[in-house]
Amino acid sequence: MINIDKITFGYGKDPIFEDFSLQMNGKVTGLIGQNGAGKTTLVNLMIGLLRIKDGSITIDGLSPLKQREELLKRVGVMFEDSDFPQWATIREHLRFIGQLRGMDAAEAERQGLATLERFGITEKADEKFQKLSAGMKQKFGIAQALLGYPNYVILDEPTANLDVNARITALEYIQDLAYTKDMNFVILSHILHDLERVCDEIVVIHKGRLLKQSSMADILKEGMVRDYTVRFTSPEEQEKSLETLQKEGYEVRKRGLALEVHVESRGDLEKIQELINEDISPVRSILEQLFVDLVGGESD
Ligand SMILES: Nc1ncnc2c1ncn2[C@@H]1O[C@H](COP(=O)(O)OP(=O)(O)OP(=O)(O)O)[C@@H](O)[C@H]1O
Ligand SMILES: [Mg+2]
Repeated sequence: MINIDKITFGYGKDPIFEDFSLQMNGKVTGLIGQNGAGKTTLVNLMIGLLRIKDGSITIDGLSPLKQREELLKRVGVMFEDSDFPQWATIREHLRFIGQLRGMDAAEAERQGLATLERFGITEKADEKFQKLSAGMKQKFGIAQALLGYPNYVILDEPTANLDVNARITALEYIQDLAYTKDMNFVILSHILHDLERVCDEIVVIHKGRLLKQSSMADILKEGMVRDYTVRFTSPEEQEKSLETLQKEGYEVRKRGLALEVHVESRGDLEKIQELINEDISPVRSILEQLFVDLVGGESD
């Protein structure tokens, strides 16, 4: 369990977190929030890269400041700006990071390459870091965080640069490890439909405050997307449908050759489907809708 208890922290004199508490106990927890919400700061505090001014943080009962070495063996981290020395190869990095985490170097190399095999990049094992693409570096970032199958793995934007296949591979592997190796993951991401696939718990933070913590199952059960898109192939068809929907009192907006219609209930959706004989698709996922509802359109 990750226990963040009444912490206060700020880079300057303005606090980012003030009396902030959060307990995370999910197998795969998704931590979401706008740019600048404080997600990465929270990770840095959780692993002791930054020092809290007040309160306490523990992961599995270990303090990141007082039991740093023990904590690093139990917690794998992939940083947002994962940067590793450019002159060393993947294989060398795996051995080195494994040793820092208390592993045998050969075992670390074997485990790391086994993860990279899933991503199909083992042929890059002896390539210098400098020669890797952004996605390859990210695959390596994931592989090093998993070394030793630690109890906790914290991943800051793990899928941002990955292609579709690699993203699916990464998400499936995370879920597989969470249940077969009894590991716990905290994933920071803006790709909310990725989180929808893999998380069992969601935490939303906003301007250093906890806005919501809920199981994914409840979010999916209770949530509903309220904006839908209907695409047309001619302006005439679009105009006809616009009039039909407006006559029925729906809030409709033109978007190119599509219409975006706002609904309040599943009944509305069925009615719209009867009124216009076109495919209707949700504008966002349920988790994206929750995020928009909670955080609104405002941006810092
Ligand atoms: N090293 C730093 N020095 C001063 N301020 C910082 C520093 N790092 C982050 N901040 C500020 O702290 C706030 C939280 O930043 P943080 O990086 O934690 O956000 P985030 O939620 O991870 O955002 P993103 O989604 O963009 O990664 C922001 O206002 C940011 O400008
Ligand atoms: Mg961040």
